[in-house]
Amino acid sequence: MILLTGGNGQLGTELRHLLDEQGVEYVSTDSKELDITDAEKTMAFIVNLKPEVIYHCAAYTAVDKAEDEGKELDEKINVDGTRNVAEAAKAVGATLVYISTDYVFDGTKKDDMYKTDDQTNPQNEYGRTKLLGEQIVQEIMEKYYIIRTSWVFGQYGHNFVFTMQKLAETRDQLTVVDDQFGRPTWTRTLAEFMVFVINEKAPYGIYHLSNDNSCNWYQFAKEILKNSTTEILPVDSSKFPQKATRPKYSVMDLSKTKALGFEIPTWEKALDDMLSSIEK
Ligand SMILES: NC(=O)c1ccc[n+]([C@@H]2O[C@H](COP(=O)([O-])OP(=O)(O)OC[C@H]3O[C@@H](n4cnc5c(N)ncnc54)[C@H](OP(=O)(O)O)[C@@H]3O)[C@@H](O)[C@H]2O)c1
Repeated sequence: MILLTGGNGQLGTELRHLLDEQGVEYVSTDSKELDITDAEKTMAFIVNLKPEVIYHCAAYTAVDKAEDEGKELDEKINVDGTRNVAEAAKAVGATLVYISTDYVFDGTKKDDMYKTDDQTNPQNEYGRTKLLGEQIVQEIMEKYYIIRTSWVFGQYGHNFVFTMQKLAETRDQLTVVDDQFGRPTWTRTLAEFMVFVINEKAPYGIYHLSNDNSCNWYQFAKEILKNSTTEILPVDSSKFPQKATRPKYSVMDLSKTKALGFEIPTWEKALDDMLSSIEK
């Protein structure tokens, strides 16, 4: 049996659709069915189900709120919750797939992509708690995949693609920051990789998974709105102060993932495919 945490989130929903297409059986949970911050209930639920694989998609993801009013909850879900899931996974001998983030890096490594074993140094609370989650998984588990991803977009959630499209409906001009570089990731590519590591019995450890090619947010917005009449103008991030510090450069090296034989589409192709799948 396969268990999903966070099964109604942006990634969890994509993963459910993929597993449905493949005819794979699974149990999907969200905070109502399985609140991962409750250690006893999480252990009881998982011991009762005895899954062989746990796709741990549940997380606190409000990056700016995590700096102040969400700080406690961020810690509770991303650190304590991950520990509860990992301990229960270990108790039943399940393989754990934990999703992490490019925000574990500080973004100062200009011109050279971040490798899986590069020094981490998170600059915001969310990145700090996701990194603690990684460390907990590594301490407790032997059978684990930590998959770091970035700039996630997909059909089933709130994300940059839909924000840009919505703004363009009412504005002739938009300004978007051009001094933060990274790799967008389609939930579909990420879900496919999560299934791939399990099916192919890839070596356990840390992987990076984003779509190929990199860009800044301005370039991403230009591509999203390439058929729109709205004009996109580049600005410096100092014009858009945010509570949480974001890395200026968080392009992650994908060579370890590619070496497994997993084919990674470019972000431009992934975006195109996602937008056309919505039209259909
Ligand atoms: N989005 C990005 O740009 C991005 C970037 C890098 C990494 N990631 C990582 O990718 C993974 C998936 O993110 P996402 O975009 O799919 O996030 P999301 O849409 O915010 O989904 C998170 C899910 O976690 C669930 N959850 C929250 N608290 C819970 C609790 N106490 N117990 C059980 N479930 C709980 C939520 O369920 P409720 O709605 O019921 O609370 C929700 O379904 C996360 O690990 C995230 O850190 C995301």
